[in-house]
Amino acid sequence: MRIAVYGASGYQARLVLTELSRRNIDVVLAGRDADRLGKAAAATGLLMSPRRVADLGDHDALVASLAGCDAVVNCAGPFTATGHTVVRAAIAAGCHYVDTAGEQFYLKTIFDTFAAKAEHAGVTIVPATNDGCLPCDLIAHLMAEEVPSLDEITVSHLITGGGAPSRGSLRSALRTVDSLVSGGLTYERGEWHTGIPARRGSVVFPGVPEPVDMAQLPLAEVVTIPRHVRANRVESLVEASFSARLSAPLTTTTIDALPEGPTDEERRAQRFSYLVDATTPGGHVVRGLVQGTDTYGTTAIIAVEAARRLAAHGAEPGVLAPAQAYDAAGFLGFLTGHGLHWDISPRK
Ligand SMILES: NC(=O)c1ccc[n+]([C@@H]2O[C@H](COP(=O)([O-])OP(=O)(O)OC[C@H]3O[C@@H](n4cnc5c(N)ncnc54)[C@H](OP(=O)(O)O)[C@@H]3O)[C@@H](O)[C@H]2O)c1
Repeated sequence: MRIAVYGASGYQARLVLTELSRRNIDVVLAGRDADRLGKAAAATGLLMSPRRVADLGDHDALVASLAGCDAVVNCAGPFTATGHTVVRAAIAAGCHYVDTAGEQFYLKTIFDTFAAKAEHAGVTIVPATNDGCLPCDLIAHLMAEEVPSLDEITVSHLITGGGAPSRGSLRSALRTVDSLVSGGLTYERGEWHTGIPARRGSVVFPGVPEPVDMAQLPLAEVVTIPRHVRANRVESLVEASFSARLSAPLTTTTIDALPEGPTDEERRAQRFSYLVDATTPGGHVVRGLVQGTDTYGTTAIIAVEAARRLAAHGAEPGVLAPAQAYDAAGFLGFLTGHGLHWDISPRK
């Protein structure tokens, strides 16, 4: 099995490369700059792995960089600017595709633009295989199997510690600041809409004594969950202070001067709690809980396993939500073995 990493010179990609190496999977490092690819190979002990330079403006080079690979993990954000080009190349190369994107509108346009083309080419595209979207999407699927009739779903993220977001995350926030400020998409009665205010302003998280003030923020789960779960409404929230920080855009110059991302120590100290709260038409409440440490490290584990599963077992061709591509309980069980805690309550 051979897996390519595009944008292999970035912060998240280094963790992805390390995870691929730990799992003894053959790697191709791909990206736009030979020097930076060389540094990434040296930093991850992958100097013997092939390195392929391909600029996004050169479709043929991009397709060639993915040739012979079973899957690609695209880490080249902001995906709003770059993702479509890599998806198009993966389809042309016959290479399954996952990425670490969290940009909600990007995700929606990948479903809207590439579903038929990927299906026709026999290629599976699973965007947003990150620490938040993949486990929340899978747990929502399991909840819907237990309680088939769901009315409203609210996905809430709370992250504590862990230093500042990576430069790449901040560049993605800067690129999508309009949607961060507006709150992004809400799924309501079969369609995605902008401009619908959130229904909840605070959320009680397990282990947190006071309700946490929350703000609407465009998370990927709003796009993926309604593709396999029947619900009247899906919205997404993050802690209000985190939303305010992301929505007050830094300049490119300020971002460039920051450290590339949290240190290993900061990542280890980080905790996240993600909730998928669902109400039934009868007024019952079901809660899916996902908890772990180290969002970037968890994203690396998830993106590599997502690509590996596509390469090893395949999935339906097309653009898929995580729960459409993977066995939800099986993948979550795998993540339990990597320190992720998840639970659905009350269980039937
Ligand atoms: N939960 C989540 O939503 C979540 C979790 C983890 C990561 N992410 C996302 O993952 C992405 C990567 O983050 P990061 O911290 O690794 O960023 P980063 O350190 O800035 O790395 C970005 C990578 O993309 C490449 N790249 C950027 N623009 C390019 C272009 N126009 N053409 C070719 N290559 C390009 C860069 O290449 P050069 O080195 O040549 O510049 C670099 O390899 C971000 O979008 C972040 O939001 C999201």
